[in-house]
Amino acid sequence: MNTVICRTIAQVRDELSALRSRGSVGLVPTMGNLHDGHAQLIARSCEDNAVTIVSVFVNPLQFGPNEDFASYPRTLDADLALMRAHEVDLVFAPTDEEMYPLGREGSTRVCVPEISSVLCGAHRPGHFDGVTTVVLKLLNVAAPTRAYFGEKDYQQLTLIRKMVSDLDVAVEIVGVPTVRAADGLALSSRNQYLSETQRRTAPILAKTLRALTQQLAAGNRDFPRLIREAQSSLDAAGFHTDYVAIHHPLTLAPSTMNDRTFVVLAAARLGTARLIDNMQVST
Ligand code: PAJ
Repeated sequence: MNTVICRTIAQVRDELSALRSRGSVGLVPTMGNLHDGHAQLIARSCEDNAVTIVSVFVNPLQFGPNEDFASYPRTLDADLALMRAHEVDLVFAPTDEEMYPLGREGSTRVCVPEISSVLCGAHRPGHFDGVTTVVLKLLNVAAPTRAYFGEKDYQQLTLIRKMVSDLDVAVEIVGVPTVRAADGLALSSRNQYLSETQRRTAPILAKTLRALTQQLAAGNRDFPRLIREAQSSLDAAGFHTDYVAIHHPLTLAPSTMNDRTFVVLAAARLGTARLIDNMQVST
């Protein structure tokens, strides 16, 4: 099967108008440098839909001034090989100018209030406005039946669900469980920034969150202490911890004593790599 590569919005709309008669359309938004986590989203979309479109765009709007926009790995040839192997129908790989002809400052932004400024949002000001803006644009360009996002980026997934609900976007958002390496580390393009020694330390993030979920499952509700202990384990292993948090999985509000379901989330830096992870638990 032929995977068609589109560089412009007009091309995507044109190609899709011919393909839509086959049935449902699945969209998988990515920043490229595809790994098994992305592959899982692509496989799900191909299973669920007659047509799958994958976008590959390193979105400048979601990177802060001191972040890794310039060095973010761009590997379109390898990405195309993976997408062809999955028989993806369309790839949308636009330029910055195609997506933002009016530049960074001149364009409209989409902001989901409150939950965009907590957790990762508190450490990366403006990041989630960049994410919701580009995702709404991609949904408007492709008008898919379903769009696929990883639970790995739990706050991102929650924000996108809220944006789609608040703005009545006619799409089903599908969350896909986190894909991990054998030692538990959540797969991420940013894992490449880890040295060999740091890569051996990195699984401690998932182990620490796992231990925290076990405490919650056992009935421990001393949230401040659980958070303090998890943070100390990470710091002792050599991480610089941005946060460890225990929140409600739907609202992302901090957990309260009577809650029965939790999501534990953490962001921690090892050298230049900022790693995030999360796990859910029901009691
Ligand atoms: P990116 O980091 O490339 O991730 C694209 C999608 O793959 C996201 O939905 C992310 O949650 C999912 N993903 C990444 N690693 C995963 C893993 N180990 N297991 C399961 N899913 C995983 O997230 C973005 O790009 C951008 O913010 C984007 C949504 C494309 C907007 O620019």
